Amino acid sequence: MPLDRKDLLDLDDFSSDEIMLLLETTSAMAEILSRPIRRVPTLRGKTIVNMFYEASTRTRSSFELAAKNLSADLVNVSASQSSVEKGESLVDTMRTLLALGADMIVMRHWEAGAPYLAATQVQASVINAGDGWHAHPSQALLDLYTVQKRIGRIEGIKLAIVGDILHSRVARSNIWGFGKLGAHVTLCGPPTLLPPAVLDAYETLPNLTLSYDLDEALQDADAVMMLRLQRERMAGGLLPSLREYSARFGLNRERMGRAKANALIMHPGPMNQGVEITPELAYSVQSVIEEQVAHGVAVRMAIFYLLAGTAERLA
Ligand code: CP
Repeated sequence: MPLDRKDLLDLDDFSSDEIMLLLETTSAMAEILSRPIRRVPTLRGKTIVNMFYEASTRTRSSFELAAKNLSADLVNVSASQSSVEKGESLVDTMRTLLALGADMIVMRHWEAGAPYLAATQVQASVINAGDGWHAHPSQALLDLYTVQKRIGRIEGIKLAIVGDILHSRVARSNIWGFGKLGAHVTLCGPPTLLPPAVLDAYETLPNLTLSYDLDEALQDADAVMMLRLQRERMAGGLLPSLREYSARFGLNRERMGRAKANALIMHPGPMNQGVEITPELAYSVQSVIEEQVAHGVAVRMAIFYLLAGTAERLA
């Protein structure tokens, strides 16, 4: 089955079959990465631009490695070192990248919706690498791949997503991804970071619940995804204190005992160790946090591969 899409903006309008195609293609890419020589000529002659308006370590580096492993030409552009600093608009920047020959543009932006606007302006494929609080689909795909590889399935598993749900694009894309593949997802956090209205967007997902009690959310969980407190996005007054947040919503060894034995501990990074998770758990045998990062390369190779195929068919 081909992926008949120009862009990857979020998983909300992806079918479960399309998500499975991405995960199966990721497996094929992981096989390439296990070879002594990891590079294949699949995207030779294609130009990919990493256009990052916001800081990133994992996402940017793994998109870069993915492009290089597929033999694409890669250009890294940071907004802070580009003509964006001189006031160039998003649309003009996109048109400039297209004029320079970009076939695909990977975009991270602080504004929700910026990659959607870009996608309407250029024939190039646009891949959302995180837009504001809204979506981070490649992160969700690598999280799905990590769980599927470790547990063997997504359908029917119990996943707790814990922390600053309000500001989390990772949580939003994961709710779509895990929900569409049949997982039971419980969102957990303090009411200020998990207003009930968060659920309104997901009426089509029957297995999504909300809890303000971490012990309840962890009960019999197969996987726990801890989220960073995004203090840079908080207006203030959302938390009494970090100490109280950590006492109520921080993951520690004792609390983890409520989840299933060998339940996976996940975190998209970057972590605030000692706030949402203890260092002991972050580096425990149950932690798959570094696996998540490692799988990011294969997932992003799969995204490039499938979108390039579509772009060629649609051209
Ligand atoms: N998980 C994630 O998006 O990390 P970076 O901000 O380092 O890319």
